[in-house]
Amino acid sequence: MTATPRTVVLVSGDGSNLQAIIDQTRTSALPIQLTGVVSDRPGVRALQRAQAAGLAAVTVDFSAAGTRQAFAAQIADTLQQMNAELVVLAGFMRILPDDLVQRYQGRMLNVHPSLLPRYPGLHTYSRALAAGDAVHGTTVHFVIPELDAGPAILQYRVPIRPGDTVDTLRHRVQIGEHLIYPKAIAWLATGRIALKGTKVWMDDAPLAHPVVIDEVGPEVQACRR
Ligand code: GRF
Repeated sequence: MTATPRTVVLVSGDGSNLQAIIDQTRTSALPIQLTGVVSDRPGVRALQRAQAAGLAAVTVDFSAAGTRQAFAAQIADTLQQMNAELVVLAGFMRILPDDLVQRYQGRMLNVHPSLLPRYPGLHTYSRALAAGDAVHGTTVHFVIPELDAGPAILQYRVPIRPGDTVDTLRHRVQIGEHLIYPKAIAWLATGRIALKGTKVWMDDAPLAHPVVIDEVGPEVQACRR
């Protein structure tokens, strides 16, 4: 991997995580070179964010591709053309085929809005609320062929408060995503973390559990100011 690895971000929607990543690349905190943004849907806000940042923004339209295989082949070609060393899934709502995931094993990350291994898949906020959980959160993990099952690197934990709804919880969890995702990407880019077999290594030792950051409540934030 080069000193500032060429990184491609795959998106499907709003792109708030993409924006957080773009913003951090403008500081020394995230030493990567963003070489492109690829969306499976035309016209999404993430593409506008990419264009506004002067990045190559490409749509590989899933609906126009015809078949899953054709779509995956186009994504693979695009990643190759963009010379991707790292692949970052940021709200990308498609499942990639195993061979493509394996090609980027240890170099492909995802952020999933739950404290994995709880709630892989969709509707994580409503599932956590329905279960009466005391905490929810989000996880950055390496991508492996099994969905949302890759080794976890970094988690952000948010207490569920009385009166929380899907929207209030999502809002607070996404604040955390925007903090932890660029941080985890930086760890990978600088070699602080690596995937060895099925384990995450950090600073040359296996990580027994993901690193956890807890939401800091408004009271504590006010005291710190
Ligand atoms: C994020 O909350 C992420 O957890 C999930 O999809 C959402 C995408 O949001 N995978 P955005 O497009 O980055 O705003």
